[in-house]
Amino acid sequence: MSTAAPVAQATGITKRFGSTVALHDAHITVEPGDTHALVGRNGAGKSTLVSVLTGLQAPDEGTVTFDGRPAPRLADRDAWRRRVACVYQKSTIIPQLTVAENLFLNRHTRNKGLISWPALRRQAREVLAAWSVDVDAGTVAADLSVEQRQFVEIARALSFGARFIILDEPTAQLDAAAITRLFGRIKELQQQGVTFLFISHHLQEVYEICDTVTVFRDARHILTAPVAQTPQAELVAAMTGEAAAARPDAGPRPTRPSEPALSVTALCAGDRYQDVSFTVGGGEIVGLAGAASSGRTEVAETVAGLRAADSGEVQVAGTTPRPGSVPAALSAGVGFVPQDRHRQGYIPEMSVADNSTLTIPDRLGRSGFLNHRRRDALAAAQIAELQIRASGPGQHVSGLSGGNQQKVVMARALASDPRLLVLINPTAGVDVRSKEFLLGTVEQTAAAGTGVLIASDELDDLRGCDRVVVMFAGRVVTEMARGWHDHALVAAMEGVGGGIDA
Ligand SMILES: Nc1ncnc2c1ncn2[C@@H]1O[C@H](COP(=O)(O)OP(=O)(O)OP(=O)(O)O)[C@@H](O)[C@H]1O
Ligand SMILES: [Mg+2]
Repeated sequence: MSTAAPVAQATGITKRFGSTVALHDAHITVEPGDTHALVGRNGAGKSTLVSVLTGLQAPDEGTVTFDGRPAPRLADRDAWRRRVACVYQKSTIIPQLTVAENLFLNRHTRNKGLISWPALRRQAREVLAAWSVDVDAGTVAADLSVEQRQFVEIARALSFGARFIILDEPTAQLDAAAITRLFGRIKELQQQGVTFLFISHHLQEVYEICDTVTVFRDARHILTAPVAQTPQAELVAAMTGEAAAARPDAGPRPTRPSEPALSVTALCAGDRYQDVSFTVGGGEIVGLAGAASSGRTEVAETVAGLRAADSGEVQVAGTTPRPGSVPAALSAGVGFVPQDRHRQGYIPEMSVADNSTLTIPDRLGRSGFLNHRRRDALAAAQIAELQIRASGPGQHVSGLSGGNQQKVVMARALASDPRLLVLINPTAGVDVRSKEFLLGTVEQTAAAGTGVLIASDELDDLRGCDRVVVMFAGRVVTEMARGWHDHALVAAMEGVGGGIDA
């Protein structure tokens, strides 16, 4: 065991937001060279701890040290940047600027007060090369993939001198191949002496790359232990405070043939997808699987009216909504959970009640007036039903934890009693237990006759589907019946052995 001081240590941390206690006397110790996982259910206090560890928020009580020394003053941002950096769910990269500008923002090389652009670009190239980030310094950040953006953020942190990097759900938006590359990079950097704190709801990722795991529950520290000595059931029990329940297996689902809720015919859109056809029956749950580049998300977005196809047809419950119109899709009976909940999912400055009932103003009052009591009652019921952790219907969604924001988006999709539910990565950022619960709600909705399309590459999202349509490189390559084997589906999503049905 090393005798060096911990890279980072937080002790006795308490943080309140109004009546919410986000952290209660919590602590964590991160040892040098360790890759340390922080896990817990939605709202457990993980991201709040990150904001305290990165100096974005002062705790109400408690202390933070780095390498055994007290943390800098909050105002001294540069001093914090030399010690720690976090790659967030939401990017801190400015999309309109180039990679070089993002890397050297706030520390331009100045020559008598003027920015030296050639010097800036040269330094950016050096930083990217030093950390083997294969991105052109002149690229505008908006054109980067999520994966490239994360690598640039990591390189930026390292170039400030930080050797402690926090990753808050870095894999939520990456596909399998990108996750493999990210993990490869983490392992390389770990060998070069970089220490990581890694937050994820995918416990298999914790087992794959972490040495130590800390569990938070209800704002408190529950345990810290070597990953290798902590079986998954024990981890889940620590997270939920109950003995692990057996996972319901994918048994048969009652099937009733009925009118198609969705039929997609010969849909084409440039180089994104070609000749896509499939149907979803009323009461049926159909998965649309594929890697990030497969076109699955674009097809789902086309069905939801977020984009239009060049040719082909989308029919919802027998009608043909105007292509490329979200309101048209909505009035045809589509409920929708979008890919990027931060940009398309909710309005952060509005309350949980307003957000979750956004799509159904007509059910809340006559002649354009909202009945606020009815709205709040409906929202309160949804909060209870989806186990949304909020102080009440009036809380702003911006004050919810990431996973709970996702549940609000789901509540909104369900609120309109849709004929067809279109879900893109519906459980991204949602904790293990809430995930089962959310998918259970989807099954209930289907049992009531709604057709469901789940576009995802998460095996857990797809397991409960009656059928899974698999796309690769813009085309439907195969369809698998319920009860498929993981490796068969993964292979089909990677374009290997396509056409072989399970
Ligand atoms: N700015 C804020 N205003 C009000 N409440 C907040 C704010 N930030 C966090 N909270 C509350 O603090 C608690 C902890 O939230 P936090 O974001 O730390 O959870 P988390 O463990 O990261 O969850 P998730 O897995 O869903 O991301 C939650 O109940 C949340 O609603
Ligand atoms: Mg969080």
